[in-house]
Amino acid sequence: MWLTNSSIGRKVIMSVTGIALILFLTFHACMNLVALFSADAYNAICGALGANWYAVAATVGLAALVVLHFVYAIILTLQNRKARGANRYAVTSKPEKVEWASQNMFVLGLIVVIGLLLHLYNFWYNMMFAEFANGGYAFVAGDYAAHDGAGLIAFTFQQPVYTVLYIIWFVAIWFHMTHGFWSAFQTLGLNNKVWFCRWKAIGTAYVTIVMLMFVAVALAFSFCGGACSAA
Ligand code: HEM
Repeated sequence: MWLTNSSIGRKVIMSVTGIALILFLTFHACMNLVALFSADAYNAICGALGANWYAVAATVGLAALVVLHFVYAIILTLQNRKARGANRYAVTSKPEKVEWASQNMFVLGLIVVIGLLLHLYNFWYNMMFAEFANGGYAFVAGDYAAHDGAGLIAFTFQQPVYTVLYIIWFVAIWFHMTHGFWSAFQTLGLNNKVWFCRWKAIGTAYVTIVMLMFVAVALAFSFCGGACSAA
């Protein structure tokens, strides 16, 4: 099949899954901002996204997107290396116009995935999984209900090591996504000389805003235990 067998088809899969993941992150960042204003409202959202069949179905869909994106990244990386063959290191000087992020997309992606595993341990395991497997209580010490997302965010970011690890993770995601954004539009053909620069500017602004929302939540819970204005 063209989509899975050709190089361009595989890139289309990477682009479409990447755009879907950016949309998920946009939703997730907006949802997290609610935690800065009201723990009850945030926990009500977490409750709705908890142990319901539609939330579990959405999680399975999301996991499928991440797996597809990751598997095709490996396939394309191996394919590129094979195409370059033994001459892979023949040219050592780097072309000036190629961005650092574009040359390191795979390594950045790996950091993103490792961070994601830590994040799923901190939240998904203590929330959705605990809802089913631990009688509605998080596994961490402190008797947190499994839908107490705000409580678990506070618990996580009270530990400075997590704040530092998450900020490193956010920086890797920023580099990965700013490159992925315009690259996806280029693959899908929604690009020309004029729009190349525009997509780059739009992508950088968009991704920066989304990532700053995550940073704001992490720092507010680290330094003020949540809503700094109410402290
Ligand atoms: C300050 C930053 C973040 C906070 C406070 C946060 C918080 C949370 C919470 C509370 C949940 C559980 C929601 C629920 O099950 O109801 C969750 C799940 C999740 N988060 Fe985050 N998150 C952050 C950043 C991120 C980032 C940057 C990513 C992706 C790169 C991400 C990916 C996910 C995924 C995939 C899930 C599982 C969703 C599901 O079960 O369907 N999160 N996060």
